[in-house]
Amino acid sequence: MSRLKNGYIPKVLATEYASYRDTVLRTLITRLETAQASISRPISIYDPMAGTGPLIPEVERSGYVGYFNDLNSLHLYVNKAKTYRSYKTFKRIGSATLLKKLCNFTSRLDRNTPMPTEKWIDDVSLRILSSAWSSCEDEIKPVTIILKAIILLSIRDFSSFVKTKNPTWLKPGGTRRNITVEQAFSYAINMLENYYQHTYCGYQAIKGGEINLTDRDCTKYVPKSGVDIVLTSPPYCNRVDWDRLYAPEHYFLRAVGVWHTRCEFIGTTAVRHYDNFDSDIAFISEHSKYLNIFLTKVKERQIGNEKRSDYYLKYFTRYFAGLFRVFEVAASSLHKNNFGIYFVVQDNCHRGMSIDIGRVISQYLSIKGFQTRVLKIWNQHHLGMRNISRKYRAVNPRQRESLWHAIK
Ligand SMILES: C[S@@+](CC[C@H](N)C(=O)[O-])C[C@H]1O[C@@H](n2cnc3c(N)ncnc32)[C@H](O)[C@@H]1O
Repeated sequence: MSRLKNGYIPKVLATEYASYRDTVLRTLITRLETAQASISRPISIYDPMAGTGPLIPEVERSGYVGYFNDLNSLHLYVNKAKTYRSYKTFKRIGSATLLKKLCNFTSRLDRNTPMPTEKWIDDVSLRILSSAWSSCEDEIKPVTIILKAIILLSIRDFSSFVKTKNPTWLKPGGTRRNITVEQAFSYAINMLENYYQHTYCGYQAIKGGEINLTDRDCTKYVPKSGVDIVLTSPPYCNRVDWDRLYAPEHYFLRAVGVWHTRCEFIGTTAVRHYDNFDSDIAFISEHSKYLNIFLTKVKERQIGNEKRSDYYLKYFTRYFAGLFRVFEVAASSLHKNNFGIYFVVQDNCHRGMSIDIGRVISQYLSIKGFQTRVLKIWNQHHLGMRNISRKYRAVNPRQRESLWHAIK
């Protein structure tokens, strides 16, 4: 079990609201150990929406096979630097050399006074950082991986954005922080070092696992070889828009040509061009009694413009239809003899009504022949509760978390 800092794996990205609480990690790790004890080959696990990949260290330490997918390419690049192999490269090269290389690639940035912009990153900074990204490719692959991760971990420091009342909803524009490249990269290197310290240093017997990282849309993709266990935590409903939360990093990834041109995060707030509403609402209504009641109430409670656009009805329909597809597709990756699906959900509320995501997924999986049960419930999100609604400030958001297991 990793030595958790204050109960958590240390943060590497500036925004890591989504990671598992330590009890979830401990429970999952114990379940993986039990599964491993019953088969002779290394067990394989798949997380279709792996985000920051909290199980990467465990797969490495115990010698499992792990498939970690997330549509957000930022996670792909940063997670590559979280493997045991990257840790060993980091140790061999040393933080001072890595810092020196990056400072050389970007020294022109220090000579430029930060300029106001309406973009996520001003043009000069973007040009210099993009060229540094290309220069990293001249290094040997394991070094390239670490350097690219450090650049991505520093992007916030070179970005121009305004914070809004909603902590996950930034706006582009302004002037970037007047920070030297050395300061920015040192900070990112420290975060990575801190991560390695807690996940790999001091462990005597690290078996070395097989880590497979992808950035595909998990409603359309599964690892080719089957897996023994699926585990995941779905995007929050009506709370975080991943496109906004990581907008500065995505802006950079787009500039260096590695960001999907058109991607659909589960939980996207963009419903204007959503074409599948009729088929999706029919699909989800068939699979959850709870959703039928919930969506009727959502429709009744829409007000003003929302009523005309059916905004919330469309938002929730799209969210749940997406989730059902994720579980259907992920379940298809399970071997015949498998250890089932574990999922961690964070509920939210809409205008005072609880949105019981775990229950909805459980109803869906039951119809698909799984036996589901809740393993543990916590009454609030482990990083605190946030009411970001301007209209419903008085509503106490029940951001309950729960861990579930489903097996056929
Ligand atoms: C609650 S977070 C997962 C957090 C993760 N357990 C961690 O500890 O960082 C949900 C993740 O789903 C990803 N996601 C959303 N839509 C997706 C899609 N269509 N395909 C793959 N990943 C998606 C988001 O990028 C986000 O990282």
